[in-house]
Amino acid sequence: MILGIETSCDETAAAVITRGGEIRANVVASQVALHARFGGVVPEVASRRHLELVAPVVREALGEASAALEDVQLVAVTHGPGLIGALLVGLSAAKALAWGRGLPLVPVDHLHGHVASLYLEPDPLEPPFLGLLATGGHTLLLDVQDRAGYRAVGTTIDDAAGEAFDKGARLLGLGYPGGAALDRLAQDGDPEAFDFPVARIEGLDFSFSGVKTALLYAVKKLEPAELERRRADLAASYQRAIVRALVERARTAAAQLGHERIAVVGGVAANSELRASLPDAALAPLALCTDNAAMIASAGRYVEPLAPPTYLDLDAYAAA
Ligand code: KG4
Ligand code: ZN
Repeated sequence: MILGIETSCDETAAAVITRGGEIRANVVASQVALHARFGGVVPEVASRRHLELVAPVVREALGEASAALEDVQLVAVTHGPGLIGALLVGLSAAKALAWGRGLPLVPVDHLHGHVASLYLEPDPLEPPFLGLLATGGHTLLLDVQDRAGYRAVGTTIDDAAGEAFDKGARLLGLGYPGGAALDRLAQDGDPEAFDFPVARIEGLDFSFSGVKTALLYAVKKLEPAELERRRADLAASYQRAIVRALVERARTAAAQLGHERIAVVGGVAANSELRASLPDAALAPLALCTDNAAMIASAGRYVEPLAPPTYLDLDAYAAA
């Protein structure tokens, strides 16, 4: 059994999986409600909440897996990128659990974790493929040749796709984080109602700051009653622009690199229009799109573990 721990942002998560990639437990304690009134994640508040939650969440994961600490042979933990204080809570907990039992520890890159959400049972994906990783913090095109890692071939030069969804949702009064709410609202709207083009920039990179500004101006131009009436159209058109950019660039990158397969991971992979726009792609299972520890444990299977006590001075990192 592998115990995975993830605390890079506002989800306290622990999971138990087998070496073969079967999920025995996948517990996620979301802090969304705690941060909602601030309109975003407050790092110090997140760290303190992780501290309260990490032990109970690990205990719950073990319980759900009908496992004891004695059944765990390897501890996998996110050590970056993310909020540094939040990461340190999970990393310290993982070190303590591993060292206390003389177990090896494997440090996992959070983005590798998102990719490894595709390697779990019952339908594990075999590389090579072109990965599209879209979260609240990153938008990357990845050349994935094997399960041990990835090579980034494109990134965003400003906002991440999830960030664009969240900022758009905020402009439409949908609260934080609003990606999923915007997705739901868009289902009642006309995606052709407004023209919100996404900037096409050189190479395989993305830019989402322009489309956000276009939405802002469209919202400002409408009278309150009219705005209320057109909210679903605005959401649908905005979502269409972001999804188009993601799909276009992913297809271009796949063609350039000679990949037959496109795979989509990360929180934005839960978006219904994105999923529908890539019918041939491998899509991360819905439950594994947003942050969780099963994906971290999964990635841990393909990274060299560190023997005790060599990992005790291991550090977390905020940015890749
Ligand atoms: O991967 P994730 O849980 O956290 C990061 O590593 O950032 O991704 C969270 C992001 C948020 O921006 C959220 O609004 C977005 O994923 N998201 C969605 C949907 N569900 C979550 N965006 C668009 N449509 C969705 N259905
Ligand atoms: Zn993430």
